[in-house]
Amino acid sequence: MTAEAKTDGKGAVRRALASLAIFAVLTALLFLAAPDGLYPWIKAFHVIAVISWMAGMLYLPRLFVYHSQTSAGSAESETFKVMERRLLRLIINPAMIATWMFGLWLAWKGFGFSGGWLHAKIAAVVVLSGVHGYFSRAVRLFAADRNVKPARHWRMVNEVPTVLMIVIVILVIVKPF
Ligand code: HEM
Repeated sequence: MTAEAKTDGKGAVRRALASLAIFAVLTALLFLAAPDGLYPWIKAFHVIAVISWMAGMLYLPRLFVYHSQTSAGSAESETFKVMERRLLRLIINPAMIATWMFGLWLAWKGFGFSGGWLHAKIAAVVVLSGVHGYFSRAVRLFAADRNVKPARHWRMVNEVPTVLMIVIVILVIVKPF
């Protein structure tokens, strides 16, 4: 990795941490002030976090497809390592935490954790979080040049978050049961 890329990486981490800190302070203020219309605000933050999480969960396995077609030690492979690590640490991990935090608050405040659709949704999100864990492990394996799965595997895995997202959104919006 070049010195320029390292400096750029540190800058990106600082910017991401600053954004997270601002977001955390604003959220804490909202909770403390507890204005009348808090629920739709938290729902808006939940949806923002969901979009960020899903964007990363749909893009990361695409990177794995291309990465698995490069040879270990090549310039392309090293570039994919940086892209995967940054996407996971700066976007996917914080977005998953925010999605869970706001989602659980909505489930408690709005529904007292009751409803078949909500239980099914939480179960589907637990599975999605498991896929997230699988992707985190894959980032570590790719970083150590130890991926043994072919591009076809990553192409198939790519569809799992898509299917889960469709199920989750139908459950929360249609509330079929
Ligand atoms: C365990 C984590 C989660 C919990 C506990 C949770 C819970 C909730 C609750 C209680 C609502 C409010 C529903 C309403 O006011 O009618 C909501 C809204 C929403 N959630 Fe989640 N959620 C979680 C994760 C997710 C994920 C992973 C997605 C998408 C992939 C998602 C997508 C949405 C959407 C699109 C809405 C807005 C629905 C509307 O306004 O009608 N949630 N969530």
